Amino acid sequence: MGDLRIVVCGGGAANGVVGLIQEATRRGWSVDVTATQSGLDFFEKSEVARASGKPVRTTYKFAPDGRRISPPADGLIVAPATFNTINKLAAGIADTYPLSSVAEVIGRGVPTVVVPAVNSALAARLPFRRAIDDLRSEGVRVLFGPEDGWEPLPPGQNDPRKFPWLRALDLVEEAFGLTTVDQVGVPLRA
Ligand SMILES: Cc1cc2nc3c(=O)[nH]c(=O)nc-3n(C[C@H](O)[C@H](O)[C@H](O)COP(=O)(O)O)c2cc1C
Repeated sequence: MGDLRIVVCGGGAANGVVGLIQEATRRGWSVDVTATQSGLDFFEKSEVARASGKPVRTTYKFAPDGRRISPPADGLIVAPATFNTINKLAAGIADTYPLSSVAEVIGRGVPTVVVPAVNSALAARLPFRRAIDDLRSEGVRVLFGPEDGWEPLPPGQNDPRKFPWLRALDLVEEAFGLTTVDQVGVPLRA
C-alpha cells in the first residue's frame, strides 16, 4: 500500500491513534507516527511504537538506536489536529519538526487528511475558519463540518470515542487512489 504518516497533536482524542495504526496496518499500510511535543502527553509512547513497529518521532533527531525513523510519506493524516497546529500549518509556520515535516509533505502533493479536534468556541474563531479554508484550497482534505458529520461541540462536551479515525483512513485511501491515477494514468489499487 505505502507509507502512512500519522501526526498526532495535543488533543484529548490522541490516545485513540493506536486503533488507527492497527486498522491501517491491517489494510497493508506501513505506519509511522510523529507527535507534537504536546501530543506526547496524551498517549503512551511505547504502546504507539509497539503498534507501528517504529519509534515515535517528535524532533529532527533520529531514534536513539540510530534507525532512520520516518520514511517518505505516501499518505498523511494529521489527527487529532489542534487549533494551534491547524492555524500554524495554514500560515506556513514551521518552527517544530512536526510542522515542518507536514508542510513539506503537503507541498509534495501527498494525499493529506487533517481532522480538527476543536470545540465550538475555538471553531468560531476567524483565524481557524480561515485556516480551514486555506488548507482546503491547497488540496488538503479537512474532515470537518456538517457535510462530514464531524462538528464541534461546546467546550467540555467532547467524546473522544467518537473521533473519526477510520473515516480519516478511508479518505486518505480515496485521495491516494486518485492521486496515483492522476500521476501515472493507471490506478495503483484494483
Ligand atoms: C486535557 C487537554 C485536552 C486538550 N484537548 C485539546 C483539543 O482537543 N483540541 C485543541 O485544539 N487543543 C486541546 N488542548 C490544548 C492543546 O494541548 C494546546 O493548545 C497545545 O499547545 C497544542 O499543541 P500542539 O498543536 O503542538 O499539539 C488540550 C489541552 C489539555 C490539557
